[in-house]
Amino acid sequence: MADVQPQTIFLSDYQVPDFLIEKTDLIFSLQETETTVTSTLLVKKNSASEKTNAPLILHGENLTLRSIAIDGRELAEDEYQVDAETLALTVSDQCIVTCVTVIKPQENTALEGLYKSSGMYCTQCEAEGFRKITYYLDRPDVMSVFSTKIIADKTLYPLLLSNGNLVNQGELDNNRHWAQWYDPFKKPAYLFALVAGDLALVEDGFTTQSGREITLRIYVEEKDIDKCDHAMQSLKRAMRWDEEVYGREYDLDLFMIVAVDDFNMGAMENKGLNIFNTSCVLAKPETTTDAGFQRVEGVVAHEYFHNWSGNRVTCRDWFQLSLKEGFTVFRDEEFSSDMGSRAVKRIEDVAFLRTTQFAEDAGPMAHPVQPPSFIEISNFYTLTIYEKGAEVVRMIHTLLGEYLFREGSDLYFQRHDGQAVTINDFIDAMETVSKRDFTQFKHWYTQAGTPVVTVTDSYNAKAQEYTLTIKQSCPSTPEATEEQKHAFHFPLCMGLVAEGKNIPLVLAGEDAESFSSVTNRLLEITESEQTFVFTHVPSKPVPSLFRQFSAPVRLSIQRTREDYLQLLAYDEDSFCRWDAGQQLAVSIIDELVVAYQQKKMIEIDPVLLEGLRVVLADNTLDKAMVSLLLSLPSEAYLSEIATVVDVDAIHFARQQLAEFLALGLHEELLAGYEALNVEETYQASADAIAKRSLKNAALSYLLLAETAKNASKHISSTDSPIAKQCYQQFATANNMTDSFSALKSLVHSVPEGKVIEEYQEKALAEFYAKWQHENLVVNQWLSVQATIPHASTLEKIKTLMAHESFSMTNPNKVRALIGAFTQNLVAFHQPSGEGYRFLAEQVIALNKTNPQIAARIIAPLTRWKKYDSHRQELMKTYLLQIKESPNLSKDVYEVVSKSL
Ligand code: TRP
Ligand code: ZN
Repeated sequence: MADVQPQTIFLSDYQVPDFLIEKTDLIFSLQETETTVTSTLLVKKNSASEKTNAPLILHGENLTLRSIAIDGRELAEDEYQVDAETLALTVSDQCIVTCVTVIKPQENTALEGLYKSSGMYCTQCEAEGFRKITYYLDRPDVMSVFSTKIIADKTLYPLLLSNGNLVNQGELDNNRHWAQWYDPFKKPAYLFALVAGDLALVEDGFTTQSGREITLRIYVEEKDIDKCDHAMQSLKRAMRWDEEVYGREYDLDLFMIVAVDDFNMGAMENKGLNIFNTSCVLAKPETTTDAGFQRVEGVVAHEYFHNWSGNRVTCRDWFQLSLKEGFTVFRDEEFSSDMGSRAVKRIEDVAFLRTTQFAEDAGPMAHPVQPPSFIEISNFYTLTIYEKGAEVVRMIHTLLGEYLFREGSDLYFQRHDGQAVTINDFIDAMETVSKRDFTQFKHWYTQAGTPVVTVTDSYNAKAQEYTLTIKQSCPSTPEATEEQKHAFHFPLCMGLVAEGKNIPLVLAGEDAESFSSVTNRLLEITESEQTFVFTHVPSKPVPSLFRQFSAPVRLSIQRTREDYLQLLAYDEDSFCRWDAGQQLAVSIIDELVVAYQQKKMIEIDPVLLEGLRVVLADNTLDKAMVSLLLSLPSEAYLSEIATVVDVDAIHFARQQLAEFLALGLHEELLAGYEALNVEETYQASADAIAKRSLKNAALSYLLLAETAKNASKHISSTDSPIAKQCYQQFATANNMTDSFSALKSLVHSVPEGKVIEEYQEKALAEFYAKWQHENLVVNQWLSVQATIPHASTLEKIKTLMAHESFSMTNPNKVRALIGAFTQNLVAFHQPSGEGYRFLAEQVIALNKTNPQIAARIIAPLTRWKKYDSHRQELMKTYLLQIKESPNLSKDVYEVVSKSL
């Protein structure tokens, strides 16, 4: 990249391709030092292009060109032009272009294109990785039928895979063999895949709705063969679900998943040959936590669902990325809801969106769900494209209802099967079936930022009328100022809670009788200010707003703690109930933050404690719900909603409230823990997960209570029964969830004396000794240490980077240690700036080996505006240091230049 400023690509510059590629024939000859790729392309002039005499300009990066021929005639050097990113040549309206290039997969640490991971060859082509394999029209609106021949050493690479069906194979001299694959479905190059290696396989079958037999295969390293069952069961459930809920059947006869250790993201939906990060496919109770099991189920389903939402109907250009990602995330979220607990899944998804995506939307990289421009597309695989994109699809679902939404999705797939289309085409199908106008709704795709919805209300006791006034605005973001933005169209699902009841909702002018059992309503908001008057309201109600989080907005409303308690106790909506608890905790923590800043000691309001006491006593409540209600808002969420993040105050205040609850609920928690701490065979069912979750939440509070008690008595205890219990559970549990939860509670507790310290060291050492050969478990071990809430953690991390288990070329390890560290509020943001300096050093190192990962881990530094002026200066200094380092990749350049 050096000194030339990277170019910005604009959606408004989109032009249809001048040429199409009807057929793509590839031959890969894999050799130990290099790979030769021979591509034969049937190229045709695109009739939709108006240009005459346009040259054929193929994409290509880091390729050594051996030869290029048109219709069998090899071109002389002056018959084509090559630069760092393209190959240009003059061709007729129809011709065959044959091209031989050489690449070096074994030197590819960026994990884009063809590379090696643990001895096997594999590919990652989305978004623009195919151009690192051969010269091509590497854009999603060029769809081609691929046929792939792979030639390799038979001993080292007995398994040779590509997309579609295996049509032929054979042996060659020198211990080499070959396999020929053919994929009958037209696809863009980003869905191409190749795997060559020595892998074991688990096979199963699936009979489709229409009676076709599909072979299902999961390929992993031999040692992981006992960790495939959950992924296989998840896959079959996903296949059935897509038939039942969307009417979508699988189309090839074979569906393969391959697990690789080194992978930039979670997984990739290559046609017929999904490639997965091992972290998203391997699972067994002894090594994998419940969260891990759920992630596997969700990602397996996500990639499978892409076969329709992404592959059969794909994106016209990368500005349409959320067309496939937002829709597919919505689909996998709904799938997981149907497989487990819908209420819990929704709360978890919203908690994640509100902490991470809201932060992105408020930062310098904020962009609309359909971005207007980018420098490096890899930087746009974001929380906004995925998670907010899914929320936008969810709003369409809410506005249209289940039935019409399905009709719209049917029409979309029917109209566009085999095409590369736009977000607008998706909306258009929804408009057609519903006969509604989504013009205003589309602002969700073109305006960035999280809207703020301000609600005020008034009650007229005499008229028994209740008035809600809804105002909306959206803060300025890089693409538009607050004043320039248009009002959004969104569903506001709501209810009213009065005297412990969810009362009937009758709007002025409506007949009360017909609404006597309606306690949940969908209001459509389209204006910057709107008023709703409810009649027959017997007493002043507490409004329950954005039920199930019906729109991705920030709610601003004045509420008393009494109001929150009402909702926490009586709201019929599980999400609002949980959120009432969270906001109540936020208001108490806010008070403690102010007290900390003013160096005052205050009494903690016991309302939350009393509310939770009721929750713990209620045996009818779902245990997962109780566990969620017990967990305080995370430091990340508290930081996100703060105007200025006071790192120490937030950490201290949250900890103070946690201790207060731990001490106050001690009896209930102990009883709860003991009742749930019974040995059972592991199950990944929602119910079993809920029990473990509550049990471990209780254990963590119990340990906190114990250390808090000792601290207040200023005793360095020689006996610590709960720490001992934690250690016991850690050492004897029959599953990773219980073992790791206990380890985490132990290791994250502030040692009040030798006893706990000894348990901490012993447990960490034993954990590593036991699991050192299980990569994914070792990553958990790295993370649990990287997140110890103490400034000294930075030194620990530096030591761990030199540990045998760490590797800078494995993205999972980088995320586990460095990524986790940046989430550690007190250690990362220590006032000396050492945390920032450390991150900058790692970014500069990764920029050379893996630009995608380098660009991703900078994110916490880009949020500098949220911190005090001292930290702001430090964060900017290190961002600048990165920006000025030599040979900056496009990826890192875009992030740092946009955030300074
Ligand atoms: N399409 C993939 C998914 O969401 C995303 C993905 C996998 C990806 N690997 C990548 C994107 C590498 C960019 C780079 O399922
Ligand atoms: Zn996806």
